[in-house]
Amino acid sequence: MNKADLLIIHAAELATLRGSASPRRGKDQSEIGIIPDGAVAVVDGMVAAAGPTDEITAEYKAKKSDVIDATGKLVTPGLVDAHTHLVFAGTREEEFELRLRGASYLEIAQAGGGILSTVDKVRAASKAELVKLARPRLRAMLAHGTTTAEVKSGYGLSTPDEIKCLEAIRDLAKVEAVDLIPTFMGAHEVPREFANRRTEYVDLVIQEMIPAVAERRLARFCDVFCEVGVFSIDQSRAILEAGKKAGLAPKIHAEEFKPIGGAELAAEVGAVSADHLMMVNDRGLRALKRGPTVAVLLPGTTYFLGATTYAPARKFIEEGVPVALGSDFNPGTCMNFNLQAILSIACTQLKMTPAEALTAVTVNAAHACAAAEFVGTLEPGKRADVVIWSAPSVRYLCYQFGVNQAETVIKAGNKVG
Ligand code: NIG
Ligand code: FE
Repeated sequence: MNKADLLIIHAAELATLRGSASPRRGKDQSEIGIIPDGAVAVVDGMVAAAGPTDEITAEYKAKKSDVIDATGKLVTPGLVDAHTHLVFAGTREEEFELRLRGASYLEIAQAGGGILSTVDKVRAASKAELVKLARPRLRAMLAHGTTTAEVKSGYGLSTPDEIKCLEAIRDLAKVEAVDLIPTFMGAHEVPREFANRRTEYVDLVIQEMIPAVAERRLARFCDVFCEVGVFSIDQSRAILEAGKKAGLAPKIHAEEFKPIGGAELAAEVGAVSADHLMMVNDRGLRALKRGPTVAVLLPGTTYFLGATTYAPARKFIEEGVPVALGSDFNPGTCMNFNLQAILSIACTQLKMTPAEALTAVTVNAAHACAAAEFVGTLEPGKRADVVIWSAPSVRYLCYQFGVNQAETVIKAGNKVG
């Protein structure tokens, strides 16, 4: 008999997501490895075994206080948020109201609001202030079931301010339980001081920021907002290629408002993920079909912007493009970090099934952040990041909305919420 540090037993549904060495696509997107009356044994913060309760308890014993009875409950891997802009200062509720009155996101941005108004506040904030603002957000994310999150810089837009944001992410990762995967996004917008010299800003990103970030090992990925009026296809390509040379794997905000070829560029540069894709056209879809890029859909943004065109999740799944979901948490286009809300919108608006949606916030999201080696499934050797839900099934988790259904959150084998 082996000794476990923690045993979760009798889960009504244990969704293991097992056997996902690569992102799940097509029909496999709905294979979530459900074990009825399931159990998980945790040793040294890692999953030692996951399977039917009678088999696991025949092999593993734990102290009574280290056994959690999950009768009637769904148990899943900790959720992975594949796309956040978590580190910011200030909020933008006035823009929210302007949009309700008819202004568009790009109009507000072109009038000097949008990202640049958050940039002013982030530049004025110290690193310690940014950390202080982000800590309660991370605690709340964890309480809602998110145990790993990708986090982008991109509200600094100068070398020192981008470094400040990435260092804030690094510091947050040390003090908070959620695992953070940092992405450099100096190409989130062109700052005001470069308004009439946009090419010079691209040069600054390539020649100064990317080397500074890479040298300090502050990011895993390089992302760019490839959009009409922001960074063109050619500028985005140059930035992503420079990032790649420096060891930062490419990600891209693509086809959020206009289909300008960001999806094709993602395929061309071998991006780990192409994100948003609300307006993707058939050419973009076909391009992604051929490659390893994960489509990270962010339906909370469509919802929050009051838009009606959601990313065509069904087409992606039918074409065999792996789909992940993220929150896009940011003060401008999605003031939400709760992935349960994203699951609900993914089902009702993108017409994803609950099983497909769960895959999208676990194993496929982990692949979209190159973290699938450690998280996203409940299999031996993975980190014991587990959520026990008040819901009895994956279907129920997606069916009920507007309340927090995460009951117990376990991070690396420790109860954290
Ligand atoms: O992912 N699209 C660009 N960036 C964010 C918006 C950031 C903001 O408005 O502050 C997004 O939607
Ligand atoms: Fe984003």
